Amino acid sequence: MRTHRIALYPGDGIGTEVLDATVMVLDAALAQAGGASLSYERFDWGMAHYDAHGRVAPDDFLETLRGFDAIFLGAVGWPARLPDHVTLAPLIRLRQAFDLYACVRPARTFPGVPHPLRSDQPIDVVVVRENSEGEYVDNGGFVGAGTPPEVAVQTAVHTRRGVERILRFSFELARTRRRRLTMITKSNAQRYAYVLWDRVLGELAPAYPDVATDKLHIDAATLELVRRPHTFDVIVGSNLFGDILSDLTGGVTGSLGLNPSANLNPERTAPSLFEPVHGSAPDIAGRGIANPTGAILSGAMMLEWLGETDTAASIRAAVERALASGPVTPDVGGTASGLEFAQSVVAHLAR
Ligand code: NAI
Ligand code: MG
Repeated sequence: MRTHRIALYPGDGIGTEVLDATVMVLDAALAQAGGASLSYERFDWGMAHYDAHGRVAPDDFLETLRGFDAIFLGAVGWPARLPDHVTLAPLIRLRQAFDLYACVRPARTFPGVPHPLRSDQPIDVVVVRENSEGEYVDNGGFVGAGTPPEVAVQTAVHTRRGVERILRFSFELARTRRRRLTMITKSNAQRYAYVLWDRVLGELAPAYPDVATDKLHIDAATLELVRRPHTFDVIVGSNLFGDILSDLTGGVTGSLGLNPSANLNPERTAPSLFEPVHGSAPDIAGRGIANPTGAILSGAMMLEWLGETDTAASIRAAVERALASGPVTPDVGGTASGLEFAQSVVAHLAR
């Protein structure tokens, strides 16, 4: 029996609700398949830890997590009580310290789930977000803070190594799908950073003659993702552009509650992190109505990463059937609780 060691980091708000639903589905799917199981250790970091200890996670949380095979996170953040840059700091540190440079965010339409676009062409895209550098490096400062002539400087950092590895990752991913790769930049106005992206793409593309490559500027990409989202396959962009575009792809496919994500260390020198794209949703937390689909599909991505490919596929198929047949949660037009939906996914596993 293979056993994978998983660190559970439920976090705040609906993070706990969607994580509990996911654990139920993962355990049921693995039990049915036989051959592998997950052993969990749960870390109640976030607001609960803050109330007891005055900080959202212990100082040695990175060392604690390093020994696991994977990390599963619900969501963090409670802006009414603590600023987001405090509650989200452990998550950002994790992504950088464990070099989780490839953030993979699939978004697709599901039969039976309403979405806001008029076209009924199915959408099936993956946004690959560079997760370790770019516009989100902590690099800048204020001059004359609080004074009328105050100056703020924030400088993005794009390295050839960083750009090259995320583009290679995206080419390889495209090869497992419909073999189309679209790179998003703003190289018409930002003449250094994104010109490097253009150059590296041009250098790598000949090695992937079987992948059709394309480039769009971020402004055009937002338009085209509304106008013709079904034509996209793999989309790759810098930290900022990937962040923005993955909310957009979530929006056009129906609900943020549907979208999974993986923060991968492709070289496997540290555990990778799996989490739904959505946050802690304080507006619906505690009511049991959060849609656990994004979390459950993140769990399927985790199983796939751990080599449990068939079980991951059976979970994805059960989620599809559960969404199509109902009952579903309010964000996608139903009245079910998240728990009822997860139970329905478990029931569909057996079919
Ligand atoms: P959010 O993603 O928590 O919620 C946005 C909207 O989508 C809300 O109306 C919410 O009710 C709805 N929603 C989100 N997930 C849902 C689900 N599973 N089912 C049904 N409806 C869902 O984003 P928001 O409100 O901007 O941020 C809330 C907190 O979460 C903040 O502290 C923010 O910093 C944090 N956050 C944390 C993330 C993480 O842990 N990775 C990611 C994004 C935000
Ligand atoms: Mg975001």
